[in-house]
Amino acid sequence: MQDAKEEIKARLPVEDVVSQYVELKRAGRTLKGRSPWGVDKTPSFMVSPEKGIWHDFSANKGGDIFTFVMEVEGITFKEAFEKLAQQAGVEVSKYAGGSAELSKRRARGREALELTTKYYQFCLSKSKKVCEYVFYKRNMNRGTVEEFRIGYSPANGKALKEFLTSRGFSVKEMEDAGLLNRFGGDMFRGRMMVPFIDTTGNVIGFTARVLDKSEPKYLNTQETLLFNKGRFVFGLAQAKEAIRKNGFVVIVEGNMDVISSHQAGVKEAVATSGTAMTENHLKMLSRLTNDIRLAYDGDEAGVKATERAIMLAGDLGINLTVISDYQGAKDPDELIQKGAELWQKAVQERRPAVEWLLDKYEEKVDMSSVFGKKEYSDIALKLLKYVTDEVERAQYEELVARRLGVTREDLRNKGRSLEEKLEKKGKRRLKEAKTVAGNGKLNQLEDNLLAIALFGGVEVPSEIEIPEDETRRAELEMVFENQYKGRAREELEAEMKELYRGLREEMAKAEIEKLQARLEEEGLGEEEEKEILRKITELQRG
Ligand code: UTP
Ligand code: MN
Repeated sequence: MQDAKEEIKARLPVEDVVSQYVELKRAGRTLKGRSPWGVDKTPSFMVSPEKGIWHDFSANKGGDIFTFVMEVEGITFKEAFEKLAQQAGVEVSKYAGGSAELSKRRARGREALELTTKYYQFCLSKSKKVCEYVFYKRNMNRGTVEEFRIGYSPANGKALKEFLTSRGFSVKEMEDAGLLNRFGGDMFRGRMMVPFIDTTGNVIGFTARVLDKSEPKYLNTQETLLFNKGRFVFGLAQAKEAIRKNGFVVIVEGNMDVISSHQAGVKEAVATSGTAMTENHLKMLSRLTNDIRLAYDGDEAGVKATERAIMLAGDLGINLTVISDYQGAKDPDELIQKGAELWQKAVQERRPAVEWLLDKYEEKVDMSSVFGKKEYSDIALKLLKYVTDEVERAQYEELVARRLGVTREDLRNKGRSLEEKLEKKGKRRLKEAKTVAGNGKLNQLEDNLLAIALFGGVEVPSEIEIPEDETRRAELEMVFENQYKGRAREELEAEMKELYRGLREEMAKAEIEKLQARLEEEGLGEEEEKEILRKITELQRG
């Protein structure tokens, strides 16, 4: 594994990997750019080609190409490793002991899917009837059909299987790729084929639409060795550049809405298998931008999905809005057929998701009756609990109170008693002790402190561990050069003291938060509770 890592690093310069995501400009021995996490006002993202590392001064993150891809794509080390291995043309199975077999199977699956995509594309070009559907009924142009690699699966039930067999693929390999049905025949028959393309450019599955009114309308690849529904974002491969450049993403319900949107010039559109958005999806997207716009239908499913997104978004620092003005059209695709400019405008005219939901709640109940008001206040209060920003929450409370014709104080009292009831039922949500912001501060203090220790020659308190890892050290050297180079010794010593004090304070804070979270857990004995309270007091004293 270590060998493979080194081999991949040797073949992929850090600046090449990073510039797939961030525009870099040379500044002396390093390269500079804007943080891909969109938190900086001036370029604070640096890459050192010599050292093969990167550091983001505004988001307080750094590392090598593997950590970069993990962070920016929101994927695990293993996934980043495979992705980069593929880019580098390094055969991982040669190195990776136990999973060599699996790696090999995945690689074969990818080959089968790539070949299948080309085959379907060819079949489309040969069928006048299907071309008519794609180009005239769905109004796709040639560029779109090519970019999204649209194709057609023959209807006879065995055409693909025979084709892949002739190209040396086994039945097992076709199964691994999700291309056969449970009777061993072609999975997709007589449908318009839309490949699922991951951000590396690999085809990992398909969604397939009938050309008429038959059922089911869409058939999708099930979970396979390559395709994981909860992690896949349709259209991200084609959208990521626009998302990063323009700083927002639009989440639509249907895959066809994504395709139409791109053709209509709104290239920031993606879809997450209908309304089934997961925390993973949101995390991945929030790494690219915090301006997330939902374009779901206004039906029950759309409302539920928006509620879920709000619950997930709170801790991620996301600015969630809703695009809802479709002017009577059923979905973005239909609106675009009326005029691309209508959709372009709709994407700009968005509303805060909480506000939009509160309106939906109001529509649902009879606000002139006592029961209606009660129901409205119940669901509204439940929703507001997830708004983590206090200023924002206060504003919404004001709004809800006004609609109910009560004071904000009344509303708050009700909120408190609701909370107590929930607590009794044991439904209280455990707060994550480590918030994103808290983490960042700790990381920054630690980075600066270690940088001075290692490269400023100032002694550190003995309980602080000095990293041995080379990448980490190179990263810290960059921190030092950027922040402390040329400073006098006494100045560095004073800075170190200050940082150490801050670090201890932050660590104590984090520890207290953790303990407080434990206090909220259920089934805590009296003795345990006392012990935790004692520890908290101790930490508060410092
Ligand atoms: P819709 O029925 O709204 O389809 O389902 P659509 O996106 O507007 O499709 P067109 O325009 O008629 O071609 C919304 C989404 O639900 C999933 C698909 O992801 C679809 O995009 N779906 C729907 C399925 O997976 N299977 C189905 O049979 C129907
Ligand atoms: Mn549609």
